[in-house]
Amino acid sequence: MEKNWWKGKVAYQIYPKSFKDSNDDGIGDLKGITEKLDYLKDLGVDIVWLSPMFKSPFVDQGYDISDYYAVDPIFGTDQDMDELIAEAKKRDMYIVLDLVVNHCSDQHEWFQKALESPDSEYRDYFYFVDSPDGPPSNWRSYFGGNMWEKLPGTDTYYFHSFHKTQPDLNWQNPLVRRKIYDMMNWWFEKGVAGFRIDAIINIKKDLNWTNYKTDNKDGLVTPEVFLENAQPIEPFLREMYEETFKKYNAFAVGEVFNESDEDLQFLIGGEDSVFSSIFDFKQSTINLEDGWHNFTTPTSEQIKESIFAAHKRNDPVGVISTIIENHDQPRGVSRYIPEADLNDTSKKAFATVFMLRKGIPFIYQGQEIGMENQVFGSLEEIDDISTLNEYEVAIKDGYSPVSAFNAVTKISRDNARTPVQWDDSLYFGFSETTRPWMFSQQPNRSITVAAQLDDEASVLNYYKRLTRLYKNPVYGKTIQLGEFNPLFEEMEGVIAYERTLDKNVAVITNFQNSEVGLELAKPIVEILLNNYDEEGELDQKIALKPYQSIVLAY
Ligand code: GLC
Ligand code: CA
Repeated sequence: MEKNWWKGKVAYQIYPKSFKDSNDDGIGDLKGITEKLDYLKDLGVDIVWLSPMFKSPFVDQGYDISDYYAVDPIFGTDQDMDELIAEAKKRDMYIVLDLVVNHCSDQHEWFQKALESPDSEYRDYFYFVDSPDGPPSNWRSYFGGNMWEKLPGTDTYYFHSFHKTQPDLNWQNPLVRRKIYDMMNWWFEKGVAGFRIDAIINIKKDLNWTNYKTDNKDGLVTPEVFLENAQPIEPFLREMYEETFKKYNAFAVGEVFNESDEDLQFLIGGEDSVFSSIFDFKQSTINLEDGWHNFTTPTSEQIKESIFAAHKRNDPVGVISTIIENHDQPRGVSRYIPEADLNDTSKKAFATVFMLRKGIPFIYQGQEIGMENQVFGSLEEIDDISTLNEYEVAIKDGYSPVSAFNAVTKISRDNARTPVQWDDSLYFGFSETTRPWMFSQQPNRSITVAAQLDDEASVLNYYKRLTRLYKNPVYGKTIQLGEFNPLFEEMEGVIAYERTLDKNVAVITNFQNSEVGLELAKPIVEILLNNYDEEGELDQKIALKPYQSIVLAY
């Protein structure tokens, strides 16, 4: 296989529990995914990333793995997995798994054995610290509370960056690292093409367990502070690369936050970078600095700024993976498009901005039909532990229960975790007669794959046009690999850029609800895409309608 085979590919993220239920038990499964491979192929997808499908107690929806070698029975069997990999291969598609090795589940055999006795050899697989004076440090867990959990009846604490049922693995221990690499290679031997690497920045620790000055009433401090003082992760990731990815010419995309310029170099720079790519989360952090409950819809200028800044910083170093949403975020169209402007035209405009950037576009399941945020009736309908925690935070900040609820449900991870709407039957063609595991009021039951497949003007068919353009024999290379340069940067409401290699392609979007006129520097050769149904030629002077996107060769 060619090195860097993944460059210029289109990726798609599947959240297995909510994609497609093949046996009508209300839970998505592997056979459901295999059933839909042709659908994905037709959409133009090459790489399919599966959120965890490993054995798990599902406290954090599978990001708490209790057996890395087994498929959880709710998703099917190990044979189903082999079949999925084989069927993908037949279609020239690649299966990428989720590598969750910062932590495992407290139900994992290693942790269970570690609990048996202080002398257990498995103690050293985790961070257990004796601390008679209370928790060894005051770091706030991502899901709320202290990162240290006390073992009942002792002075011993164990460390968890996330939920207390997700103990962090001790990356200092060479044996742990060896076991992780062996497991990864076992999956490579089975035919997976790579991994998305979960929460990897958290494997580094400040092993002095320093107490920092608190930033809130809870006496704790945000994880960012200790991460700044943690030991470097490059040696670990370099070793992982040499022991695994390199041997299998794998695709590895990292979930990385707050990386320094220096880190960026070893992460994605050069031929021997530890990862193939990292996600660009810049736009997903806009207006969230002060917590979920202080979120306001980003302006077009903020979106533009974040996109341009991401390319300016990353493109000279390596390849980013672009997203508008994932399983940890609300639906992109609901988050970035003002509510009053949310329609098929604005959704297509946003899709154009996102899909033709430089990097590997990751479409999240349901995004391709324009699925919107959920309407939640009450807190009981929320499953996600992180939403429940943010709700508590809002209440502590003085919000009333109603306003706290309204605020956190806008950002809740559950917005994107509801079943894909395949058709408009009672359970959306996701399951037949069994109520799906996650289900509440869907505001737009009409947003379905079935309705959009035959409608030329649908969001789904527009996504297909985007992926076809991405692979166009004349312009594809330029869009996949060409340079990214901002256009009309100063023009308010316009998000435009140029892609250049052997061709010049301009991607121009009027991301606002009013018309705008602009003038191109060069004559147009060809109109490659337009989200308005328009006849005729364009000259260098262009009048763009509200949320109009055009893609031009010039
Ligand atoms: C990552 C995952 C998220 C999970 C967390 C802990 O951020 O994307 O879903 O909760 O890691 O594993
Ligand atoms: Ca099922």
